[in-house]
Amino acid sequence: MKNSQSPMLLFLGIHIFSVQWMLTHQQVNVALSGKATQSSIFVSSYYASLAIDANRASNWRSHSCATTNADNSPWWRVDLLAVYHISNVIITNRGDCCPERINGAEIHIGSSLVNNGNSNPRCVVIPTIPAGASANYTCNMQGRYVNIIIPNVAQYLTLCEVEVYGVAVPVFKRAYLKLRFNSIEDLSNPTMRETVLQKIKSANVQSSVFQVRWTKEPELETDT
Ligand SMILES: *[C@@H]1O[C@H](CO)[C@@H](O)[C@H](O)[C@H]1NC(C)=O
Repeated sequence: MKNSQSPMLLFLGIHIFSVQWMLTHQQVNVALSGKATQSSIFVSSYYASLAIDANRASNWRSHSCATTNADNSPWWRVDLLAVYHISNVIITNRGDCCPERINGAEIHIGSSLVNNGNSNPRCVVIPTIPAGASANYTCNMQGRYVNIIIPNVAQYLTLCEVEVYGVAVPVFKRAYLKLRFNSIEDLSNPTMRETVLQKIKSANVQSSVFQVRWTKEPELETDT
C-alpha cells in the first residue's frame, strides 16, 4: 500500500428522490394545474379551462362551464403535465337545463394521446348525474391525461367542473459525485470512510429526499 497521504478518489452515489415523493400522502385536485382542451368550443367562449376554474357553479349563464358544439363523439381532456396515480374524479353537471346530455359519457385515463387520449383505459360509463350535482367516481388508475367523451352520438358536452384527485407517481433520479480527498487518514479504511459519509449526511438537510452512500471502494489517484 502506498503512503496514505496520496490523493484518493472516492465515489459517492446520491439517490435523489423527487420532491413529489414527499407529497404522496396528500390528495389534491391536480386538474387545477393542468391544461384543458376539447373537441370544439361552443360560440368560441365556453372553452375547456372553464371546467378547471375551481368553480362548481352550474348555471350555464355564470360562464363557468366548458361546452362543446354538438360534435359527433364530443370530448374534453385535461393534461396533468405529469403522470399521476388518480384515485377519483368528480364531475359537476349543468344545473339549469338538460342534465341528461351527460348520460353515457365516459372517463378515460392514461398517458397516450392516440385518438386524442380517448382510447386510454376507461374508468367509468356515467349513467346519469342529477342537474347541478357533483358525482364522484373512483378510478385508481395511472395517467397524465383525463378524458371525458360521449361516444358515438352528436351531442353538446357541458362540464361545469372536473376535479381530479391524485398523487404524483414518484420519480427516481440518480446522480454520482466523484470526490478527491487529501487525507492524513487512511481512506481505504472502511471505518474512516464511514466517518466521512456521516459528515456528508449531517450536512444534508433533506435526508428524506436524498439518500447518500458510497458506491465504490476508494482508489488511489493515478498520475495523468
Ligand atoms: C370521493 O370518493 C373518494 C373515494 O371513495 C373519497 O375518498 C373522497 O372523499 C370523495 N370525495 C368527495 C368530495 O366526496
